Amino acid sequence: MPEKVLVTREIPAAGLRPLQDFDLTVLSEAPPERDELLEAARGAAGVLSNVTEGIDAEFMDAAGDGLKVVANMAVGYDNVDVDAADERGIIVTNTPGVLDETTADTAFMLLLAAARRLGESERTLRAGDWEWWGPKLFVGVDVWGKKLGIVGLGRIGQAVARRGKGFGMEILYHNRSRNEDAERAFDARHADLDELLETADFVSVHTPLTDETQHLIGPEELAKMKPTAVLVNTSRGPVVNEEALADALADGRIFAAGLDVYENEPQVHPKLLGLENAVLAPHIGSGSTETRNRMAVLAAENIVAVLSGEEPKTPVGV
Ligand code: DGY
Repeated sequence: MPEKVLVTREIPAAGLRPLQDFDLTVLSEAPPERDELLEAARGAAGVLSNVTEGIDAEFMDAAGDGLKVVANMAVGYDNVDVDAADERGIIVTNTPGVLDETTADTAFMLLLAAARRLGESERTLRAGDWEWWGPKLFVGVDVWGKKLGIVGLGRIGQAVARRGKGFGMEILYHNRSRNEDAERAFDARHADLDELLETADFVSVHTPLTDETQHLIGPEELAKMKPTAVLVNTSRGPVVNEEALADALADGRIFAAGLDVYENEPQVHPKLLGLENAVLAPHIGSGSTETRNRMAVLAAENIVAVLSGEEPKTPVGV
């Protein structure tokens, strides 16, 4: 009897192919209701999950003793209770390395759009309210040659640094530890968070969500930023205090923000929705066809490896 594998959302076909010899259940395109998810988990040996599903002790217990692997189709795995999995001997994997460049593209897209007021000017044009070219119309701030502050210089942070370098930007980064190779590659300089916030023209956040990084950027941190600065977040929403950010943007205490992630997705803070200087994307950081295929395939291969008694390609550490 083939083992049961649950795929919690519709994923690219490329990711289903490696799983075709299993007893496969694929749920719907939209996130499943909790009851449906728990019911579908029953008896699964492998689960290919997405960031929208809470893979916690309750889920693991609903799946039962046969659950061996949870393969999260994302680099972030804050939706998975890794300690609960470890206690039950369940292997958790993620998809690092296959989405860095695409997510860095998203961060830079938001950075450019926020700096040059693309959202606001496009909304004006589409509304039929563009009346004339004007010397003062939709004037933004330059990106090239400015100082880019990267909070979290992991793989995605480094891909953003590379883009910044291409724009002639000076790179400053804040990380738990120094990365001398990256410093050489991007002429980057390590700084404490305060210095980075006080001096950077663009602050791009690339930390995972942990107890330490929850609300890492809050009212005090925003108060340190320049009034001309732009904040970009493509990591996880709760790393930034959304209410504080909305207030800072509304009061002109920073120039603009580009956000792909939110504290309570898919809800977006109502104050942010009303702000012209917030560019808001619906968590599309890794959203290219090529990258979503790579993520799906890697997640599936992790399931195949574990269920075949082999080492998974990309297990997460506890
Ligand atoms: C991730 O990989 O963590 C993204 O947020 C989902 O693409």
